[in-house]
Amino acid sequence: MPPAPSAGRFRIGVLGAGGVGAAHVHAAAGAPDYEIAAICDTNRPAAQALADSAAVPAYSDHRVMFAEAGLDAVVIAAPHALHAPMTVEAARAGLHVLVEKPMATTTEDCALMAKACEAAGVLLAVAHVIHFDPVVRETRTLIASGRYGQPLLITHRRSSHYEPGSRPPWFFDRAVAGGGIVLNVGTHGLDRIQLFADSAVRRVSGVVRGRPGLEVETDALALVELDNGINASIALTSRGMPYFDETEVVLDEATLRISATDGLFVLRDGQATRLLKADPGHQQHSFRAQLDGFVTAARGGPGHYVDGAYGRGVVAAALAVYESAERGQRVEVAAERVAP
Ligand SMILES: NC(=O)c1ccc[n+]([C@@H]2O[C@H](COP(=O)([O-])OP(=O)(O)OC[C@H]3O[C@@H](n4cnc5c(N)ncnc54)[C@H](O)[C@@H]3O)[C@@H](O)[C@H]2O)c1
Repeated sequence: MPPAPSAGRFRIGVLGAGGVGAAHVHAAAGAPDYEIAAICDTNRPAAQALADSAAVPAYSDHRVMFAEAGLDAVVIAAPHALHAPMTVEAARAGLHVLVEKPMATTTEDCALMAKACEAAGVLLAVAHVIHFDPVVRETRTLIASGRYGQPLLITHRRSSHYEPGSRPPWFFDRAVAGGGIVLNVGTHGLDRIQLFADSAVRRVSGVVRGRPGLEVETDALALVELDNGINASIALTSRGMPYFDETEVVLDEATLRISATDGLFVLRDGQATRLLKADPGHQQHSFRAQLDGFVTAARGGPGHYVDGAYGRGVVAAALAVYESAERGQRVEVAAERVAP
């Protein structure tokens, strides 16, 4: 039996009390019409610590949380291979789902998740949080305005410390993580490229590199062709420092450079002009806007959220990088929809 929805404030449980589970909890603080109502983690002390910070109950078994906590929805911020089974169980319990990226580790799992949520009549949203980032949104608006002409090509490069010891061990376990830097970090880049090109990935050719004894790749290069003919490149490297996360959109009349550390620049006539500063508050703002949109949509309102079809497309594009690297060939990606 699904739990009865609360009459008043919308109650959200968080599954996974790691770094990103905590980001969701902090982002929800002070929301007028919803609240984090319970936290679950198989690591009981982690669940308890985060639950204490929000003054809510802690659980170590999500099934017990679903049955007891009187929830309307869950945020799933657990290891990647758990996203699909947890989403299916949540849907069967009548709970709306906001699942972290990557949506799942296979496109088949993505389809199962969408089917389960549809059958249960609950909302499925995927936490591609950059859709809510002010710099990304401003960049999309500038591109769509046409004032700099049409996009010609896009480059994206990002460093992320991806050596053992740099992050929890499950990220290096292929069965649990589904892959390495491409599926984990590269999904943000593939998402960003699709947003700026306003088109879905159609073909990729990729190269991945790892380390002796590691099950997942730590470094990767990919060439990406979008459905509308725009080409893009992605470079993901593993040593982390100095951290960079930059995307350039080359348009007819100017280039837009988006840097997570420096902000948004327009490069034109040999000059760089900063249009927006990077703000450390952007992450919190984006997580909050994402939760606001999810709750509004789950309640039947006009909330902005990223749907399962889009999340599945990003997973398909990332997995195509692996397939291309393995086969040494360009790989077609079934066309998915343009970013919402
Ligand atoms: N949106 C972003 O910018 C962003 C950034 C980093 C990570 N992520 C994503 O967020 C998710 C979580 O990543 P993280 O960095 O917080 O990882 P993490 O390892 O810090 O946290 C995951 C937590 O899940 C818990 N867990 C494992 N099995 C569980 C189970 N059966 N039930 C309940 N809890 C369980 C672990 O004990 C751990 O505390 C991943 O999908 C990751 O890719 C998103």
